[in-house]
Order: sequence, then C-alpha cells, then structure tokens
Amino acid sequence: MLDRAYGSMRDSLAPLLVEKRVVVCAGAGGVGKTTVAASLALNAVVAGARALCITIDPARRLANSLGLPAIGSNEHQISPDWLARYGVVARAPLSVVMLDTKRTFDELVTRHASSDAAKQRILDNRIYQYVSSSLAGTQSYMAMEKVLEVKLDERFDVIVLDTPPMSHALDFLGAPERLMDAIDSPAVRALVQTLELSGRFSMNLLAKGLAAVLKGVGRITGTGFVEEVAEFVTGLNDLFGGFRQRATDVSRAFRGSEFGYVVVATPTPTALKEAHYFAWRLRESGMNANALVVNRVHPSLSEPVSLEACREALGSLGQGFREGAPERLLRAAREHAQVTAAEQGILAELDALFPPESVPCRVLVPALAADVHGVVELSRVASYLAPTR
Ligand SMILES: Nc1ncnc2c1ncn2[C@@H]1O[C@H](COP(=O)(O)OP(=O)(O)O)[C@@H](O)[C@H]1O
Ligand SMILES: [Mg+2]
Repeated sequence: MLDRAYGSMRDSLAPLLVEKRVVVCAGAGGVGKTTVAASLALNAVVAGARALCITIDPARRLANSLGLPAIGSNEHQISPDWLARYGVVARAPLSVVMLDTKRTFDELVTRHASSDAAKQRILDNRIYQYVSSSLAGTQSYMAMEKVLEVKLDERFDVIVLDTPPMSHALDFLGAPERLMDAIDSPAVRALVQTLELSGRFSMNLLAKGLAAVLKGVGRITGTGFVEEVAEFVTGLNDLFGGFRQRATDVSRAFRGSEFGYVVVATPTPTALKEAHYFAWRLRESGMNANALVVNRVHPSLSEPVSLEACREALGSLGQGFREGAPERLLRAAREHAQVTAAEQGILAELDALFPPESVPCRVLVPALAADVHGVVELSRVASYLAPTR
C-alpha cells in the first residue's frame, strides 16, 4: 500500500545524512520527531557516519532503551556491539544526548562570563533561573546553542537534532528572536536605563511598561525583583557583548547550507498544514525543507472485508470467541478502512502541497503496531527513512 501511494518512487534520507553536518527534525507535537531523529541517527551509524543524536524529552522507555538516564545531559555512547544484539549492523558509534536546557544555559553563562563574580551573579539571579528553565522558547534556543557547541566536535560526522515537543513547528526557527523579545524588550531596557541613571526605579514605568514583560516572566515577586530583572539583562548583555547579537548569530547559523531540515508530519490535515507552513517559512528564509516524512501511515487492507471473511479469520484462530465477535471485527475493519481511505485522500494531495522542487525527498513511514520503544522498532522506522534497494 505504501509503495502504491508513491508508485515506483522510493525516496531515501540517506544522502541527507552524508551531505549535511546537522539534520534538524521539526514538526507539530506528537508526530514522531523524536522517533525520526533517533532512527535517522541509527541510519547514519549503519552507513558508517559517527552520529550524535540530540534528543529532547524522549518517552521514558525509549530513553531507557537508549541507555539515557531520566535527568542529566551526559553524552551516552552506544557501541556497534550493543546495537548488533538487536540485529543492527553499525559501522560507527552512535552517541545520544538528552538536552538539558538549564545546564546548557548555565554552561553558556560559565563560558562567556568575564569573571567568576559576574558568572555567579547571573546564576544566582532569580529571573535567570526562571528564564533558563521555564520560559517558553528557551528550550528551542538552547537546543540551537547545543548544536553550535557540538558542531565543532570532530568526534561526530553528523548531528541529528530532535526539536522540542511544542504545538507549533514554527516556534523553533524563531526561538532566538522570541527569547530576546521576552527578556530584552524595550520595556526592560528602558527600566535598566532608568535604574542606571537614577539608581532607583519609577513605579509608573514599572506599572506601564513592565506589565507585559512580567506576564511573560511569571509571578516572581518579592523584594528586589525589579533590580533582579535589571541585573539579569545587564548581566546577559555583559556576557555576550549583547545577547541579542548572539541570538542573531545563532539564528543565522541555522540558516547555513550545512543544515538540513526534515519536516515530520502525520497524515492528518492539521499536521500537514503545519508542515506546509513550516516548509514555506524555511523557503522565506532562503532555505528548503530537504525532506518530508509522513509518519504513522496506516496500511490499508488489500480488499473489502466481509462478515464471512471475519468468521473465517476468527475460526482459523480456533479459539472460543464470544458471540458477536465476527460482527465486532467487521466493524473495526470498516472503521480502519475509513481511516485509511481518508489518509489515502490526504496523501494524494502531497505532490500539490509539497512539490518535489521545493521538498525534494518524501518518505512514508507506516504506523507500527506498538509504540517505538527500542532499537528494534527504531531500526524498522529507519528502514523506511532510508530503504535499502
Ligand atoms: N511509526 C510509528 N508507529 C507507531 N508509533 C509511533 C510511530 N512513530 C512514533 N510513534 C509513537 O508516537 C508517540 C510520539 O512519537 P514521538 O517521536 O515522541 O513524537 P514527537 O517527538 O514529535 O512528540 C511515541 O509514543 C512514539 O513511540
Ligand atoms: Mg519529542
């Protein structure tokens, strides 16, 4: 069925793993970004490329099966020998690291601080503690920072980046700018200036200008709060010689030709619409979505199912099924047929929605019978992402 949807075409993401230094998997929440990222990394090591998969929030069982601890961002190396136990023949080690947003931010501060005292001031700052762990967008931004850090590491040939489980794929690309808007807004800067000039703050300014900012920063109140905001912003500017500049640089790096983008979607109108919009956003920024992965496609039944066929199927199992079992099976089969018919309708639109000249590689991955929990399932997904002909 999957082949039928594509005729004789069987695209592969394998070339992307060779051509690009960083492959970013983006898409709406829950479509399979983490699964696709880990599977792609598996493909890379099978092809002999030393891969690092930066994963974000993997399901616990997947994390366990990859040997990742629940917390912490230590790199974990999976040897070819270990993968061989699951039937995967890898020619290079697979490294996996779970993004720890706060730790990445802390490391950034530590690396750029002009002195130990300046570093400690930032790390102890309550606004920093909030922004580094809880502010929306920080996770995406730190994922980007992490990539730029490991990109310099010669132990890896390719880096596969999973992106945060947000509701919108679009949030990813704009993360640096949005983070800056939240923590370095005109209102905060005006406040900093006021504080620097007068040594105290104006209640009026606080009431008017900061209301919006405080909404973003949350309910951190108490003595010295405004001073902490000011200290935080001046601290960051001191750290990076203008944090905004740093964010712009990070943004720009992600628009470079070493970066490839895999847009992941499920065969639903909403996910595909979002994928389409994300591909459009990439194009607007002078980039292309290199590949589209439509994940969790339901294989359709080869022919319409009859009640007789259901009876026969259950009979062949030879068990004592309860009364009405064939009818229930028939109902389930018809519901399944409806789902697959709807999906086939959606997939028929793929070429129009994602013309090959804008998204050169399109791959379908079937819905597996169970969740993707380990190397065996990952390698099944991997076999669809880069089929061996
Ligand atoms: N092809 C597939 N078949 C069956 N289950 C899948 C498939 N792809 C992903 N899943 C499951 O769907 C859930 C969401 O996948 P995940 O990769 O965590 O999505 P995301 O990272 O986009 O939020 C997980 O439980 C995962 O095991
Ligand atoms: Mg995920």
